[in-house]
Amino acid sequence: MDLQLTNTTAVVTGASRGIGLATVQALTAEGVRVVAAARTITPELKETGALAIPVDLLTPDAPAQLIDRATTELGDLDLLVNNVGGGDGGEGQTGGFLSFTDQQWQQSLDLNFLAAVRTSRAALPSLLRRRGALVNISSNGARMPHAGPVTYTTAKAALTAFGKALAEEFGPQGVRINTISPGPVRTAMWESPDGYGAELARSMGVTQEQLLAQIPAAMGMTTGRLLEPSEVATAVAYLASPLAAGMSGTDLLIDGGSVKTA
Ligand SMILES: NC(=O)c1ccc[n+]([C@@H]2O[C@H](COP(=O)([O-])OP(=O)(O)OC[C@H]3O[C@@H](n4cnc5c(N)ncnc54)[C@H](OP(=O)(O)O)[C@@H]3O)[C@@H](O)[C@H]2O)c1
Repeated sequence: MDLQLTNTTAVVTGASRGIGLATVQALTAEGVRVVAAARTITPELKETGALAIPVDLLTPDAPAQLIDRATTELGDLDLLVNNVGGGDGGEGQTGGFLSFTDQQWQQSLDLNFLAAVRTSRAALPSLLRRRGALVNISSNGARMPHAGPVTYTTAKAALTAFGKALAEEFGPQGVRINTISPGPVRTAMWESPDGYGAELARSMGVTQEQLLAQIPAAMGMTTGRLLEPSEVATAVAYLASPLAAGMSGTDLLIDGGSVKTA
């Protein structure tokens, strides 16, 4: 299927590994010219041929600087993918609500919500000129707020609501804004020895391997396995495509059946 994305332009945040990297790979394979942002530029990201820009998106001015650089390099944007999120390491993430400090709340909101707000604000004038698309990577935790650190699931719930509000405001002007809410995806968040998965395993007194084996059943994933980053990336490419012209304001669950409500 031709997604009709050849020679379009895109910015992807959080692009050095995981879902962001897979998204850059999927888009470049469709002939999209991509600017890819993360703090570190990995060899895998370089290999995609995207223009990789090292940037810390926790810095309030960084999103605007990123979009400025991207439009200088690419011209106007057809697509923004707000993928950056999660957090650095799992330490201090499993203690429950009473354990979270203001600083932890602020950091999670900055990375999982405000980075997308700031990047969207900077990119929308360009997306409006191109009648482009915007995709936010939220989490099914936004709909199952008990299923992760409350700082994270609350920030993701805000991101999902934000996407819906933007779709309503900018849809009539030709920009389609959609959200993807993945369940557990096989990335560093779960697999790294110092990530959230490792910390959760420690807190439960099981090995990380045991935790990863238990997660699909524990999360009610009827597919019985973790998701792969490419499965989310494929959906991003589809939502970016003119073939998805009828999709706006959607929150697309890709979670192996975890969320049980209609
Ligand atoms: N994996 C899951 O199970 C899952 C489930 C639902 C939703 N999600 C969401 O999907 C998105 C991607 O998750 P992932 O699992 O692929 O995460 P990941 O493997 O931890 O990758 C995160 C990416 O963001 C970059 N990043 C982190 N902090 C940054 C910062 N301050 N400035 C710029 N870039 C930064 C990282 O690169 P550097 O470290 O080099 O900066 C990396 O490229 C996140 O929004 C996450 O919340 C993930």
